Amino acid sequence: MTGGDGRSLRRRELMTGAAGLAGLALALRTSPARAASKRVESLLDQMTIDEKAGQLSCYADMIRPPVGDINPVVNQRNTEQLLAEIRASRIGTLFNGEGVEGALLAQTTAVQQSRLGIPLLFAADVIHGFKTVFPIPLAEAASFDPGLAERTARAAAVEATSYGLHWTFAPMVDVARDQRWGRGAEGSGEDVFLGEAMAQARVRGFQGRDLAAPDSLLATAKHFAAYGAVTAGLDYNTVELSEETLREVHLPPFKAAFDAGCLAVMSAFNDINGVPATANKHLLTDILRNEWDFRGVVISDYTADQELVAHGFAADDRDAARLAILAGVDISMQSGLYSRYLPELVSSGLVPMAVVDSAVRRVLSLKERMGLFDQPYRSLDAKAQAANTATPAARALSREAGARSIVLLRNDAGLLPLPTQGQRIALIGPFAEDRDNILGPWAFYGDRSLGVDLATGIRAALADPSKLTIARGCDVENTLLGGYDQAVAAAAAADVVLLAVGEGQNMSGEAQSRTEIGLPRVQQRLAELVAQTGKPMVVLLRHGRALTLDGAVKAAPAILATWFLGAETGNAVADVLFGKVNPSARLPVSFPHESGQEPYAYNHRTTGRPAPQADDSQEYKARWRTTRNEALYPFGYGLGYTTFVLSNIRLSTARLAWNDKLYVTAQVANTGKVAGEHVVQLYVRDRVASRTRPVRELKRFIRVALKPGEKRDVRFTLERGSLMFVGDGDRWLAEPGMFDLWVANNAVDGLAASFELLGA
Ligand code: BGC
Repeated sequence: MTGGDGRSLRRRELMTGAAGLAGLALALRTSPARAASKRVESLLDQMTIDEKAGQLSCYADMIRPPVGDINPVVNQRNTEQLLAEIRASRIGTLFNGEGVEGALLAQTTAVQQSRLGIPLLFAADVIHGFKTVFPIPLAEAASFDPGLAERTARAAAVEATSYGLHWTFAPMVDVARDQRWGRGAEGSGEDVFLGEAMAQARVRGFQGRDLAAPDSLLATAKHFAAYGAVTAGLDYNTVELSEETLREVHLPPFKAAFDAGCLAVMSAFNDINGVPATANKHLLTDILRNEWDFRGVVISDYTADQELVAHGFAADDRDAARLAILAGVDISMQSGLYSRYLPELVSSGLVPMAVVDSAVRRVLSLKERMGLFDQPYRSLDAKAQAANTATPAARALSREAGARSIVLLRNDAGLLPLPTQGQRIALIGPFAEDRDNILGPWAFYGDRSLGVDLATGIRAALADPSKLTIARGCDVENTLLGGYDQAVAAAAAADVVLLAVGEGQNMSGEAQSRTEIGLPRVQQRLAELVAQTGKPMVVLLRHGRALTLDGAVKAAPAILATWFLGAETGNAVADVLFGKVNPSARLPVSFPHESGQEPYAYNHRTTGRPAPQADDSQEYKARWRTTRNEALYPFGYGLGYTTFVLSNIRLSTARLAWNDKLYVTAQVANTGKVAGEHVVQLYVRDRVASRTRPVRELKRFIRVALKPGEKRDVRFTLERGSLMFVGDGDRWLAEPGMFDLWVANNAVDGLAASFELLGA
């Protein structure tokens, strides 16, 4: 009854197909011949070991840096040094530079002045947009709309390639179940299935149909692997993980990305069970190459090979280079270790030439696949750069994506949407007019001057802009002289308060781990003082992770989770506030009651002593002294300006044969007064298995748009492939027996049914 690799692959295909993801047929085919082309083999034959090491080396592009401090300063070279090294064939890839002019200089040098004329690859962290910044990936995951993610990735690719880029270090597909970890902002949240869907959509969007097209941006699934599982949510920290959970939770989004045609993967900073990911042969060779037959390239994270020394895993830099290449890292990012040590490691026999050759073959094959040998100046067109910068279409897409990423958490007595006239509105808080915290983390190339702040967006939506007053109240983490008094006065003089509070953009993202995931104290104080005026309050949260909500913020009659929405923040928020857009996003991460519940995810296991839902006073149950272990706002949760009612769940059979399909149908009705979209979710629980199973797992979701009064049946298909888990022998398997399922609005409600999976 165990499922082999073939079966697990099939499972992915089934899941994707039944999720209703558009355009699977567009997925790139990833089956280059195992032996490289004649051109690549002939180049390889001519290359010296120094030139080979050069192809495997990637350095920060200081010829055309957008800003100085994207990463720690190590081994940086100035323009002259870089050009000299390109001439000497010591560089294969440059990263995090922008602009056609500098790229032309570098590429001309490589093609015309290096011995073999091998073109460079230009890479960058294009995470959520380039010049036009889109919502952070976590926000966009809240849209539960892979089609939207595909469109924003495509638009980002068009802009980025116009600036002389070929390759993005995205998508980040790390599943993140600890909200203390700041990098959750770059991913798709806590769920595997949603993570797979978003990973595939982004790969398709970045790469487009043809990798050799000038507007195709090679995608990188990162960070391989289990970076999201760092202990205590502390960035870069140790990971202790069972093989089952690694394979069941953390690896599937990578596999999904590869199935969609992704040809690059980045090895992570962290160690796993004592072996750093960047020297992890089990991950980089056994699983990636041997089990999955991945044909693309592995690049280390920034100096991650060199960090093997600090991990206490490598004796010195030379040893680190040896361990990384032998484990399966093809390209070394920024440390310079491969250039420095591979020639000697090969001559002394510590690294077989064949290992280096395989890595070089993969890099050259990728360059060939991307059309660089035939068109080394692809994507280097100054006219395209000018034409594709922040076009009206890209900005409109950013606005649309922003509005579709906003989650309405609370809306007592229909406070929202607000009328566009007749009310005096006080916009209060550090983000009211702020333009420094709009774009979110990892948006270095974004044009800040194009960002629309909240005040600007809201004013533009009002019939009489003079009805809006602004009071900052406090800074993100500090008080302002007289700030509280001004805020209270503004609230007192208004009919309704918009309180814009949350995290600054430097509070999430890389290295931004938090022990408490609530509002900074000064902002909480602001909220309490403003609430005391008794004015109706709408909270506009800004954040790169799930937050805990307290006091007046938690009790506010209306709350919107607005994340970091990018360039069109103010307009997108206004669209939702005033009802131009009916919010339809759903949480991709659970909002816990308290920080101490983290790591928290809806799909936890049950324990032998589950806490009873109805009675939280019982001792000796899996509960906290102060809180039941459940979410304040669960995964999948979100409201809109209309109401949806699910009813009439039907299963095509109560006894699913081993190779058969189960059709699950339910009716969804828009019972409110305005048109809207609902995300209908299907969850499953395996009642009894040879491994304890999560209380629920998302298996399908579908977006349905309904007019007021309209109802429609939604139908999901399930097969055995969706009922599998990783069990004995670290293999995917399904076990006959009873399963519960729910057609639901979120991870904790829904219409329940059950069925039996029959044995083979
Ligand atoms: C990050 C990567 C990123 C790289 C290059 C590292 O610090 O972990 O995600 O791609 O820097 O900028």
